[in-house]
Amino acid sequence: MTKIHALNLTQYQLNARELDQQHDYFEQLIERLSKTLIQSNASIHRETIMIELNSFARFHFISEENLMKLANFPDYKAHKAQHRELLGALEKFESKLDTSQSKASVDNAFTFLIDWFGEHTATMDKLFFDFLMRQKLSGDNRE
Ligand SMILES: [Fe+2]
Ligand SMILES: [Fe+2]
Repeated sequence: MTKIHALNLTQYQLNARELDQQHDYFEQLIERLSKTLIQSNASIHRETIMIELNSFARFHFISEENLMKLANFPDYKAHKAQHRELLGALEKFESKLDTSQSKASVDNAFTFLIDWFGEHTATMDKLFFDFLMRQKLSGDNRE
């Protein structure tokens, strides 16, 4: 399973670091959900964490997209499309939990989500952060 972890962007500008703190929090939420899926069959526990995960994913994606628009990031549309894809996958995962499908099917869907999110952060988000970094450097050179 891909590990989701923040990119530790100490060298990046402040707003990119804020986004990365959100990645940290996302990682913690997913760990909590993972533990709950293992420890509890009570659907109410799963549902409450799923609501939190879903809300946080929406908030995080909007934060990222707003920053992309402000920075005139050229790959904004493709990045946003990936965010929408993940939200769609999250919804499907939620409905699997609702209909109490087999543990294996829930586990598979969960692993898919984690891998997907980990991959997105390490590749697509990294591209955006690199773009911000280049912008910052060219701005510094102009001063
Ligand atoms: Fe992100
Ligand atoms: Fe993203």
